[in-house]
Amino acid sequence: MMKAVITGADGQLGLAFQQELKRRGIPYWGSDAATCNITRREEVEAMLEARRPTVLINCAAYNQVDHAETDPAGAFEVNAQAVKILAEACQARGIKFVHYSTDYVFDGRKGAFYTEDDAPAPLNVYGRSKLDGEVFARTLATDHLVLRTSWVYGEGKQNFLYKFLGWAAANDVLRISADEVSVPTYADDLVAVTLRAIDSGLTGLYHAPSSGYASRYEWARYFLKAAGFSNLVIPVPLSYFKPKVERPVFSAMSNRAITTALGIRIPEWQEGVETYVKIYLEKQPCR
Ligand SMILES: NC(=O)c1ccc[n+]([C@@H]2O[C@H](COP(=O)([O-])OP(=O)(O)OC[C@H]3O[C@@H](n4cnc5c(N)ncnc54)[C@H](OP(=O)(O)O)[C@@H]3O)[C@@H](O)[C@H]2O)c1
Repeated sequence: MMKAVITGADGQLGLAFQQELKRRGIPYWGSDAATCNITRREEVEAMLEARRPTVLINCAAYNQVDHAETDPAGAFEVNAQAVKILAEACQARGIKFVHYSTDYVFDGRKGAFYTEDDAPAPLNVYGRSKLDGEVFARTLATDHLVLRTSWVYGEGKQNFLYKFLGWAAANDVLRISADEVSVPTYADDLVAVTLRAIDSGLTGLYHAPSSGYASRYEWARYFLKAAGFSNLVIPVPLSYFKPKVERPVFSAMSNRAITTALGIRIPEWQEGVETYVKIYLEKQPCR
């Protein structure tokens, strides 16, 4: 019987896990930075001793790509050193270790979907810190599952859909980058594929974004229309915003390896957006 500990349980993915595990009646313990700071070995070990899970699902991360450039120590502490702590603690106790990484481990210059066989070449501090975390998870925990994902949105404190909504409420015309392409991934879909993979005993590194691909411009247009907004959305190059951090231009990953291994289909990104709008926006009375 599965018994889970979720670290970073109050983030987007963590909240989606809590909801689904509750719905399925699977026992779990959700911790946030206040109840278990994953950078502190003694807190991690005390929690695992107290909760004795069969699986640790690490949803905690330092995800602020821009801030990471000026705070590399902070990014590496959470995205790499803490993953080492978690992986070692799981290995010592025979706990399955589930961890998430990112399309930003790639430089975006391939010109095709990235597969698990492609060599990472991160362009920024965030990507480098996440890549180090992957390596710790894969080398230190025998029973590991590392899932790379991209452009995650769900319930939580921040994601691009919240940004789109804020911009749309304040401006008639929005300018969104059209030369940044990846896969918007609905947190609930990522939870479903993760739980299926755990049930199947899958181990290793896999790409698990939603299906398809989109530019940020296409994502914004599709989402705003589904959410009932009629703003004019104009495609612009990313350089229009004079970004301080380099990001991959085409980092869409293929989910074929994991869907084939599990015999499943992961919904297209547009289906995820529509479900998100139904669940999280249509029930808000004063929009
Ligand atoms: N969001 C994306 O677009 C995206 C893209 C690719 C990959 N991913 C990966 O997918 C996974 C889930 O991402 P997400 O979007 O759900 O992230 P999120 O919403 O930013 O949640 C991350 C959570 O981690 C917590 N956290 C940070 N430092 C911690 C620490 N030292 N100890 C314990 N908890 C800590 C945060 O708490 P506070 O808020 O209190 O700091 C937050 O609740 C992560 O591995 C992420 O790197 C995300």
